[in-house]
Amino acid sequence: MSRAWPPPRVSRSPYASAFGDFDGRIWLNAAHQGPLPMAAAEAARRAIDDKQALHRISDDSFIDVPRRLRETLGRLIGAPASEVILGNSASYGLQLLANALPWAPGDEVLVPRDEFPATVFPWLVATQHGIRVRQLDISERVLGPDRLESELSSRTRVVCLNWVRSLTGDVVDLLALAELCVRRGIWLVVNATQGVGAMPFSVQIPGLAAVTSSGFKWLCGPYATGFCWIEPSLVQAMKPIQAYWLALPEGGALDLNAEGEHRMRDDLGARAFDVFGTANFLNFTPWTVAVDYLLGIGIERIDSHNRSLVARLIDGAKANGFELLSPEPPARLSHIAAISVGDRATNLDAHRKLAEAGVDVALRGGNLRFSPHLYNSTDEIDFALEVLRR
Ligand SMILES: Cc1ncc(COP(=O)(O)O)c(C=O)c1O
Repeated sequence: MSRAWPPPRVSRSPYASAFGDFDGRIWLNAAHQGPLPMAAAEAARRAIDDKQALHRISDDSFIDVPRRLRETLGRLIGAPASEVILGNSASYGLQLLANALPWAPGDEVLVPRDEFPATVFPWLVATQHGIRVRQLDISERVLGPDRLESELSSRTRVVCLNWVRSLTGDVVDLLALAELCVRRGIWLVVNATQGVGAMPFSVQIPGLAAVTSSGFKWLCGPYATGFCWIEPSLVQAMKPIQAYWLALPEGGALDLNAEGEHRMRDDLGARAFDVFGTANFLNFTPWTVAVDYLLGIGIERIDSHNRSLVARLIDGAKANGFELLSPEPPARLSHIAAISVGDRATNLDAHRKLAEAGVDVALRGGNLRFSPHLYNSTDEIDFALEVLRR
C-alpha cells in the first residue's frame, strides 16, 4: 500500500501526536476499530514485560487492575464505579441480560430488524426461557417514540437498540424512548458502542435500564474489551447465573489463604456479573489508560472536533454531487457519515482507490462509511475528498 500521507505542509490534528503514525496512512474508520493511544500502547508493553518478570505483579494488582478500570468507566458514563460491569465486548452485557433477567413465559423483546447483529443475537438465546423476540421493520431513519408506542404490547418486557446506528450514524433519541419505556414498565436496553467515547454520555437518563458497549472502537481500547451498566434495582432482580472466585465485595481485600470457604454471596451487586479474568493485565491496563486519555481531553471537545470533520466531509461530498445517507443539518450531525459516489460497483472501486491512496474507510451496506476521530484533521478529510473527486 502506498504511503500518501502526510504530503508537505498539511495540518494534523492537535491530538495526532498522542497516537502512532498509522504507517503514514489516514485512518477514517473508528466505527470499525479505534487505535491505541501511545500511552496505552506503552502500558500494554509494560504488561507484557511484567508477564516475563513476574515478581513485578503483586497480589494486590489483581484487585487494582479491575478497580482502576471500573473507576475510569464510571467517570465516562456518569455512574459510580460500583455499578460498572467489566466485560469483553458489547455482546457480553447483552448476553448477561438475556440469561439473567427475571423473565416470565411469553415476555416479548423488541429489536429493530436491521440492527447490528450483536444487538439481536443474544436475545435469540433467551427464547429458551420462553420469551419471544419480535424484530421491527423500520421505514424511518430511527425508531422514534411514536412508532415504538404503536408497537408495544402488554407482553413487551425489553426494547433493545443501538444508540448510534452503525451504517448511517443516525442518533436515536434515548431520552424520549426511555421516558416512554419507564411509563410502560419496559426495560430499555441500549448498545452504545458506536457513540460512547465519541459523544458525551451519561447513564443518568430516567428509565434507562441497561447500557452495553465494546471498548475497541471510539474508546480506543484493545480488542476484547467492553463494559455494561445495569440500573441497580434491576441488578438486584437478576438471576445469579455465575459465581466467580475473584469477585470480591467492594473494598474487599484479596485473601488467597481463605481456601475452603464456598458460599454464594448476595452482597456483590453489579460485580457479580463481571466477565471472568477481571485482572486482565494485557487488555484492561492499556484500556484504562486509553479511556483516561480521552477523558483528559474531554468527550465534549472530542465530539465537536469529530462533528466538525464530518460537517466538512458532508459539505465536500454534496458539492461533488455524492449521495449522503447520513443525517445532515438540521438533524444532529453525527460522527459517522455514509456516502455513495455511484452504484455499488462504483463505491467498491472508490473504496479500493481510497485504500491505494492510503485512506482507510469502511465499505458497509455497499456504501463508503467515514468515521473520523480525534486524531484526524480537516486536511485529511480534504485529501480523502480529493481522492474521491479524482
Ligand atoms: C453497534 C455495534 N455493536 C457491537 C459491535 C461489536 O460487538 P462485540 O463487542 O460484541 O464484538 C459493533 C462492531 O463491530 C457494532 O457496530
